[in-house]
Amino acid sequence: MSWDDDPALFELTGKKFTHGDEKVWWNNLIRDRSRLAFAIINNDGGLIGDVELQQILWRAREAEIRISIGDKEYWNHGFGSEALEEAVFAAFHLLSLERVYLRVRVDNVRAIRSYQKVGFRAVARLAATGHLAGHTELQLMEITRARYAPLPARA
Ligand SMILES: CC(C)(COP(=O)(O)OP(=O)(O)OC[C@H]1O[C@@H](n2cnc3c(N)ncnc32)[C@H](O)[C@@H]1OP(=O)(O)O)[C@@H](O)C(=O)NCCC(=O)NCCS
Repeated sequence: MSWDDDPALFELTGKKFTHGDEKVWWNNLIRDRSRLAFAIINNDGGLIGDVELQQILWRAREAEIRISIGDKEYWNHGFGSEALEEAVFAAFHLLSLERVYLRVRVDNVRAIRSYQKVGFRAVARLAATGHLAGHTELQLMEITRARYAPLPARA
């Protein structure tokens, strides 16, 4: 909830909760078969963010991915790329999806770099909507099961 109120994060990810509805968010999350979320934890087990497969289309075998490390102290230490890799692995090898895509601000170079490290590639530019409309464009990126190369440790 406190990360959700951070204006810097809002600019990058938008808002997840509106005040007071975290239980609604949680109940929706655990019941919704088109969403699967994972906590991102530091080396001591503390919560630092979350990564979520959403808009899962089981017949089309695709999903959108969203990630946010709320605790800025943990930006640029590889946690994001590792969490993405875990979630993409789960998408392809546990859920049998074929494609995972995401949308990111074109000026969010840290996020784009972490997506590239996992194997996402840019496929299109999109106009931003909502609170970002007119301020930036979004990069559509995707990774397919065919192009995904698991980390050597998994091979
Ligand atoms: C985006 C996010 C998940 C990435 O996770 P992370 O743990 O910070 O990223 P990583 O450390 O795995 O990788 C970041 C990479 O970007 C690079 N980078 C960071 N700032 C950069 C900059 N200004 N220019 C170029 N590269 C930059 C880092 O050097 C690193 O690349 P390297 O490993 O090749 O050196 C995380 O920073 C985050 O949650 N940010 C806030 C919310 C957000 O932007 N979410 C995504 C919305 S689409």
